[in-house]
Amino acid sequence: MRIVVLVSGGGTNLQAIIDRIKDNTITNTEIAEVVSNNPNAYALTRAKDNGISGKCISPKDFDSRDEFNKALVDEMDRINPDLIVLAGFLVNIPAEMVKKYTRKIINIHPSLIPAFCGKGFYGLKVHEGALERGVKITGATVHFVDEGTDTGPIILQKAVEVLDGDTPKILQKRVMEQAEWVILPQAIDMIANGRI
Ligand code: GAR
Repeated sequence: MRIVVLVSGGGTNLQAIIDRIKDNTITNTEIAEVVSNNPNAYALTRAKDNGISGKCISPKDFDSRDEFNKALVDEMDRINPDLIVLAGFLVNIPAEMVKKYTRKIINIHPSLIPAFCGKGFYGLKVHEGALERGVKITGATVHFVDEGTDTGPIILQKAVEVLDGDTPKILQKRVMEQAEWVILPQAIDMIANGRI
């Protein structure tokens, strides 16, 4: 299967996908392109370093949100991927794209949905929320993307312990290492091999 990975930042989840394809933990999968909304995303460097085509489609380069949305959908249509993976992509997916690619878009979210998800919960804010609430267990979720924010069908979840003295950054790193970098590659492999 051919996948497109959409990114906005550091791209550690992209790196996990690349590494698991290389060591054959993910099979039947090729990254056709990495698309970032942010020209400075380190994820684009990771793509380049691994010989993967990278492209920036930034809302700032368009006069309106509609035009940006159209450019994003046009790019997906050009590549015609079997699966679109949102790996830390912090942009709302256009409704038209969700409709066109029903059950063909997955997202990684750094909490156990339905906790700490939805509007305003992204990146470090998710872990700030978990620490403020004082939960003892958090984790990550891979889910299909529907028209809502973090509301689509859940594919995989993995729990991670919150420890005394955690800061949002420390917790984020543990959730990435113990959950995100494990279940995102796993979900891709399951889809690539018809197990979903
Ligand atoms: C990851 O923690 C991912 O789960 C989160 O952004 C980070 C991206 O890191 N995504 C969301 O919060 C989506 N709502 P990365 O660029 O190093 O993969």
